Amino acid sequence: MCGIVAYVGPNPAFPIVIEGLKRLEYRGYDSAGIATIEKDGALTVSKKKGKVADLTSHIGKLTPTGSIGMGHTRWATHGPPNDINAHPHKGASDRLAIIHNGIIENFATIKESLKCRGHNLASETDSEVLAHLIEEVLDTSSLGLFDAVRAALSQVVGAYALVVIDKKNPGRLIAARKSSPLVIGIGEDGAYYVASDATPIISHTKNVVYLEDEEVASLDVESGLRIRTISNDIITPEVHALEIELESIEKGGYEHFMLKEIFEQPQSIRDSIRGRINLQLGEIKMQGIDDHWEKWENASRILILGCGTSWHAGLVAEYLFEEFARIPVEVEYASEFRYRNPIIRPDDVVIAISQSGETADTLAAIKTAKEVGAHVFGVCNVVGSSIPRETDSGAYTHAGPEIGVASTKAFTSQVAVLSMMALHIGNKKGNIPRERFTRLIAELNNIPELVEQVLDQAPRIDEIAKQFSKAENALYLGRGYQFPIALEGALKLKEISYIHAEGYPAAEMKHGPIALIDDDMPVIFIAPMDDVYEKVVSNVQEVKARGGRLLGVVTEGDKDVASLADHIIEIPRCDDALAPLLSVVPLQLLSYRMAVLRDCNVDQPRNLAKSVTVE
Ligand code: M6R
Repeated sequence: MCGIVAYVGPNPAFPIVIEGLKRLEYRGYDSAGIATIEKDGALTVSKKKGKVADLTSHIGKLTPTGSIGMGHTRWATHGPPNDINAHPHKGASDRLAIIHNGIIENFATIKESLKCRGHNLASETDSEVLAHLIEEVLDTSSLGLFDAVRAALSQVVGAYALVVIDKKNPGRLIAARKSSPLVIGIGEDGAYYVASDATPIISHTKNVVYLEDEEVASLDVESGLRIRTISNDIITPEVHALEIELESIEKGGYEHFMLKEIFEQPQSIRDSIRGRINLQLGEIKMQGIDDHWEKWENASRILILGCGTSWHAGLVAEYLFEEFARIPVEVEYASEFRYRNPIIRPDDVVIAISQSGETADTLAAIKTAKEVGAHVFGVCNVVGSSIPRETDSGAYTHAGPEIGVASTKAFTSQVAVLSMMALHIGNKKGNIPRERFTRLIAELNNIPELVEQVLDQAPRIDEIAKQFSKAENALYLGRGYQFPIALEGALKLKEISYIHAEGYPAAEMKHGPIALIDDDMPVIFIAPMDDVYEKVVSNVQEVKARGGRLLGVVTEGDKDVASLADHIIEIPRCDDALAPLLSVVPLQLLSYRMAVLRDCNVDQPRNLAKSVTVE
């Protein structure tokens, strides 16, 4: 939700922290702030409503020079975006400052008792109490900074990724984590980095330590890295090598991250299937399934959990698993599942889908499922994130870093992985005739080439976008495998262009949404030549009879929808089950171009953040 970054080492902290904040801005962009300890021992804090660029112009040329510092980019939860609520927050006596990502659930109680003890808190945030609490422990005990943070956090209920700097410890960062991600980077020059994810660290070092829940780290230029739990157990840090490359988190000449990520899909899908499909042996290999085969073989139900676009990938998976694995499937919004006393049986297999691996509702739903003994399988993109660590087994999607807030390549990689899972299980259970299985895995293996062909139509899609960019509403209709794609197309459009859009099963249109159709309403039919094609053609005719500006996403060579629609975008022919991997791509491009034409901030749409780490 918020992004945090910190540095201590031989170099000036300011440029490193600002650069890191720019990389983390996708996590939240309501306000930004930075704190440093200067050579003369002064603790300086600058913060500003708005983006990191607003912060840097606010600071101007008088940039801090201290070699310890930290920064924060905020997605507001408690208190509106303004300068006062921006992080960092200082304690009562200006001795220390903190940055925080997460929610302190008992902040109101802590705030009340701090006030009773004479503290003046300036902001409306939940986070500020941490600064006052830690400082109070330091002032009223003989504990050093490391132990004082642990002691203060033992009073806190909620989620935090926290960094503390203290004037009296000018060579030391303290970092702590519970349910919000935090990565520590270890530089070769004795520097330490702390960040919400690896993107601010990757240009400095590839050696990282992922802090676990309830761990507190001291990163000191003299005494090195030490980690303890809140209850004071010593932890030996495990150093991992980062696998992402710097180019993967840069725009690489594209106007926006979203466009770059749309065009990366041939490669990201290739990376998702690499090493998992073996055409010679005619098989799929998925360790996470094979290692727990008895769970899948005996599963009486598959429960799929996710939010937003990941939930849409889950809906595609429902069709895939029911067709191939022949196991009943239910797909749930993780955010709803948790709050309705769900019935989960020990022979249920739960699939949790998440790009970030940090979505709070999905994480909490996994915990609920695990409590009753269900086997939980994660489909995640970000390596080392919380969800893969919480699940019993899983498969990474390997889509590479996705920075644009609107999910694109993460979705197609999720669908590619879920397709392989359904085919693998179906094959192992003997549900798929050999000839069809062999054909399907060959087609799946060839999907990246077909996505390239869809992307070649970008100039044509740009032209169509011009026709629709002034619309205030849009309707997306699809059936069967294409119904989730209608939902995904509508979500993409609304989140980045602010055009109201609805996705519907095409046949449901007659039960209400058809009333919306007039001459101005763009209606986008996702109508490849699949099992339900004839039915969808009838639905297209029903819309045509009532006005509506029709765009059809159709299989190449289509005649029926083409004769009715104002515009068509063709996708290559492929098996019905794999067509979502192609049909979603023109919808991503259409949304992107419409949003650009409307002057919207495509990579950072208003009110949104890349990962939603609050419930
Ligand atoms: O990281 P996750 O996949 O768990 O995120 C889930 C949703 O927050 C995410 O898909 C969101 O809906 C995107 N903005 C959609 O483009």
